[in-house]
Amino acid sequence: MTENFEIKLIEFGTDDYKQSVNLREQILRKPLGLSFSEEFLSADKFEIIIGLFINNQIVGSLNLKPLSNRILKMRQVAVKNTMQNMGIGKKIVIFSENYAKENKYTEIMMHARTTAVDFYKKLNYFIEGDEFFEVGILHYKMRKIL
Ligand SMILES: CC(C)(COP(=O)(O)OP(=O)(O)OC[C@H]1O[C@@H](n2cnc3c(N)ncnc32)[C@H](O)[C@@H]1OP(=O)(O)O)[C@@H](O)C(=O)NCCC(=O)NCCS
Repeated sequence: MTENFEIKLIEFGTDDYKQSVNLREQILRKPLGLSFSEEFLSADKFEIIIGLFINNQIVGSLNLKPLSNRILKMRQVAVKNTMQNMGIGKKIVIFSENYAKENKYTEIMMHARTTAVDFYKKLNYFIEGDEFFEVGILHYKMRKIL
């Protein structure tokens, strides 16, 4: 990866934040024929948003939603189409786990798309319970104790 590679926390409302919304819209919503509502995005204010940038352009993003002072829910994990399978998703998940541990969280959980379950398994997340539908597609609940 290039020398202008950077993973960082993104502040709500900034240009970096707008890039993360665009990326998430392209990768997670448009393929389902959906777009973000104002209401959905207002949740971002209360979440930790992490982005991976190459030459100041976002290529990967995810949100961490505190469910308690112990558990974070990982949401909206998205890597730019042309940059998938190059280790970017793994890097932002590992960065998030380090952030979580530094901030005394002990667990990360998520509703993983069934198509992405094997990606999370490789990072030692475990399935819990049965498959279910969310936003019209199949998911599994997964978690990892940090
Ligand atoms: C799923 C996603 C976040 C993974 O990020 P990525 O940068 O493409 O993945 P990485 O390159 O870091 O992959 C790490 C490992 O997982 C594997 N992997 C990646 N995506 C996978 C998938 N969908 N299914 C199975 N394995 C996958 C890679 O082959 C790699 O394996 P290796 O370590 O043996 O080489 C990304 O592909 C993406 O945004 N997909 C579309 C949106 C999506 O499904 N988001 C997740 C919603 S829960």
